[in-house]
Amino acid sequence: MLPSSRMPKFVAFLLVVAASLDDASAVDSKYSLETKYMKVPLDHFKWYAEEKSFNLRYLVDAKHHVQGGPIFVFTGDKGDINIYAQNTGFMFDIAPMFKALLVFIEHRYYGQSLPFGNDTFSNPQNMIYLTTTQALADFAFVIDQLKREFFENVVQYDTYPIVAFGSSYGGMLAAWLRMKYPYTVLGAISSSAPMFYFPGLSSCATFYEKVTKVFERYGRDQCIKTIKLGWDVIINLTKNKLGMDFVSSNWKLCSKISTTDDVEKLLEWLSDIYVNLALSNYHYPTDFYSPLPAYPVKVFCDKLTTSYFNDTKGLIEHFGYAIEMYTNYTGRTACNDINSKYHDITEFAFGYQMCTELIMPKCSTDADMFITAPWDFDKFAKKCYKKYGTSSSRPDWGMLIYGGKNLKYFSNIVFSNGEMDPYSCCGVSANVTSSVMAFDIIDAPHHVDLRNADMSDNNYIQSARQFHILALRKWLKLE
Ligand SMILES: *[C@@H]1O[C@H](CO)[C@@H](O)[C@H](O)[C@H]1NC(C)=O
Ligand SMILES: *[C@@H]1O[C@H](CO)[C@@H](O)[C@H](O)[C@H]1NC(C)=O
Ligand SMILES: *[C@@H]1O[C@H](CO)[C@@H](O)[C@H](O)[C@H]1NC(C)=O
Ligand SMILES: *[C@@H]1O[C@H](CO)[C@@H](O)[C@H](O)[C@H]1NC(C)=O
Ligand SMILES: *[C@@H]1O[C@H](CO)[C@@H](O)[C@H](O)[C@H]1NC(C)=O
Repeated sequence: MLPSSRMPKFVAFLLVVAASLDDASAVDSKYSLETKYMKVPLDHFKWYAEEKSFNLRYLVDAKHHVQGGPIFVFTGDKGDINIYAQNTGFMFDIAPMFKALLVFIEHRYYGQSLPFGNDTFSNPQNMIYLTTTQALADFAFVIDQLKREFFENVVQYDTYPIVAFGSSYGGMLAAWLRMKYPYTVLGAISSSAPMFYFPGLSSCATFYEKVTKVFERYGRDQCIKTIKLGWDVIINLTKNKLGMDFVSSNWKLCSKISTTDDVEKLLEWLSDIYVNLALSNYHYPTDFYSPLPAYPVKVFCDKLTTSYFNDTKGLIEHFGYAIEMYTNYTGRTACNDINSKYHDITEFAFGYQMCTELIMPKCSTDADMFITAPWDFDKFAKKCYKKYGTSSSRPDWGMLIYGGKNLKYFSNIVFSNGEMDPYSCCGVSANVTSSVMAFDIIDAPHHVDLRNADMSDNNYIQSARQFHILALRKWLKLE
C-alpha cells in the first residue's frame, strides 16, 4: 500500500488526460487511416469470473492491400499511435510493392488506449497492467484476430505472411514479439531500438556521449564549449533572486523560478532540449514532437555561438535566443513551461515503465557536454517509489525475460541503427547470426530508415531500406 500522502500526485493526473487527447487529435495527417478498436483483456495472464477488458485502438490502411497479401504490423511506441503512423512513411512507401495491409497498433496506456479511461493514472493500482508482457500479449491478440479476418482460407504459407515493424522502444517490442511469439510474425524490422539499454549491458555514460557526438559533428567545438560553460553560468547566476528573475524573464519562463528545486528542473529542462535536438536532427524539417527546421542541432549551435558576448548575462541571452528556436519555432509558444514534463501523461506512463521493467541507467562524465552526474541506483529507486509507489527491487527483470545479449537463439530480425542517433548507444550494432542481423546507417539520425523516402536521404539510408526490403522478401518467400 502507498502512504496516503502520495495519492494527490496521482489524482492531479486526472485533469490532464482530456487535454492530452485533444493534442493527439490535432496531429497533422499526411496519411489517412481507418481508426478501429478491439476489445482486449485487461490482464492476459489471469482468469476472472468476470473478464475485464478495454478498447485498444489500431489504425488500418488497406489502400494497396489485395486479398492474401501480407500484413505489416507496427508495434506501438510510447505515445499516440497516429503520431507514429504519420512518421513511419517507409511502410506506406513499400505497401504497393508488397500489396500489404498496414496495421498500426497502439500500446496500452498511451494515446486513446487507456484501460481505465480518465482514471487510468489516478490510482497506482490501475497502473499495474502497464508492462511489456501485457503489451506484447495485446499485439499477439490483435494479430490473431487479424489472421481470422484476413486469411480464412490461405494455406500456401507455412505460417501467415505477417511482419512486425517498430522503432525505438517500439522497435524493442517488434523484436520481442518475434522472440516471444515467433508464430505470430515471420520476422521483425527493429529500427533504433536500444535493446541493450539495461543495467550492466551498456555503460551508463554512452547515451550522453552519443548526444555530445551529434553536437560535435553538427555544431563543432565552440558549441560544446559554450554549452559546458553554460551550466556553470546558470548555476552561479541562479544562486540569488536577482539572477533567477533575470533567467526567468530572459528565457520567458511561464512562472518565475524561485527555489533550488526550480533550478534543478530548469537544468533538466535544458538537458532534455539538447537530447531532443539530437534525436530530431533530421536533414529536412520535421514535426514529430514539435516543429523543427532541418538539422536543428546545427541551427541551435549557430544561434548560440555566432555572435560575440562579453559577460554572463550576454551568454544567458544567447542561450535564450538559441532555445527559442526549439521551443518556439512556430512563434506560437506564449511562454516556456519547465514543468510541462511533469504534467505530461506520456512522460508519466513511460516513467513508470522506466521505474519497473525498463531501467535505463544514465550518467554523465567529463567526456560529454552535460553536468557530471553519476548513476545512483538507490537515489533512482527512491524517486520511483516516491512518484509511483513501485519497488525497483528487480533491475535484472528485463534481461531475464528478454535474454539480454543472448540473441543467437532467435531468428528473422533486422536491427538498424543510425550512427548519429543517441539510442545507437545501446543497440544491436553487429550481426549476431545470418538471420539476426544488424545494419548500421552511417551519418543517420533516429528512426530515419522507417520514415518516408526523401530526395535528400543519403546513400546509407537508402541502403538500409533496401536491406529491409530484401529481408521482407526473404521472410515472405518472394525471392
Ligand atoms: C473524461 O474527462 C473529460 C474532461 O473532464 C470529460 O469531458 C469526459 O467525459 C471524461 N470521460 C469519461 C469517460 O468519463
Ligand atoms: C561560478 O562561481 C564559482 C565560485 O564562485 C567561480 O569559481 C566560477 O568561476 C564561476 N563560474 C562561472 C562560469 O561564472
Ligand atoms: C557588453 O556588451 C554590451 C552590448 O552588447 C554593452 O552594452 C556592455 O556595456 C558590454 N559590457 C562590458 C562589461 O563590456
Ligand atoms: C514566441 O514567438 C512569438 C512571436 O515572435 C513571441 O511573441 C513570443 O514571446 C515567443 N515566445 C517564446 C516563449 O519565446
Ligand atoms: C551484416 O551482414 C550483412 C549481410 O552480410 C551485411 O550487409 C551487413 O553490413 C552486416 N552488418 C554489420 C553491422 O556488419
